[in-house]
Amino acid sequence: MSKAVVIYASVHHRNTLKLVRAVAERIHADTVDLLRDALPDLTGYDCVFFASGIYFNTFHRSLMDVIGRTAFDGKRACLLYTCGLRYRDYARPAARLLVRQGAAYGGSFGCRGLDTYGMLKRIGGIAKGHPNQTDLERAAAFAVSAVGEHIP
Ligand SMILES: Cc1cc2nc3c(=O)[nH]c(=O)nc-3n(C[C@H](O)[C@H](O)[C@H](O)COP(=O)(O)O)c2cc1C
Repeated sequence: MSKAVVIYASVHHRNTLKLVRAVAERIHADTVDLLRDALPDLTGYDCVFFASGIYFNTFHRSLMDVIGRTAFDGKRACLLYTCGLRYRDYARPAARLLVRQGAAYGGSFGCRGLDTYGMLKRIGGIAKGHPNQTDLERAAAFAVSAVGEHIP
């Protein structure tokens, strides 16, 4: 039986946490909040999901730090994110780092999340109402396919 964990940092509106909960529930994964545990133990997990919002075009620093410190030795790893504006592939640098660290990269899922950073606050933010139920369903479906046939 495949065992998965979702390691996350969700600091702006807890948008990514909604994705994390939907995914964890669907694939019976454990979760680790990087802001509480900066050195998660990946022993015993077959598949690791890293999840965060996008801040200045990249994943949360704590997440990149963990990936950079980890020797994956062929362990499967995937990325989940929420962002205010989907205009580029935010996952690419983290994906490259995962591969460099020896992970079997299993792809990424991203969707929009309420963004009220800076001036956006004045207009009530963008991506209001996201992630919505459809976003959460898609994230969970991605996770199911990412862990493959091993999920109970
Ligand atoms: C400091 C800061 C920087 C951000 N930079 C970006 C960005 O470069 N691109 C983008 O699409 N969204 C950006 N956002 C919006 C967040 O990625 C978005 O709101 C996300 O859903 C936040 O996730 P969280 O609530 O889990 O932290 C930024 C938000 C903050 C607070």
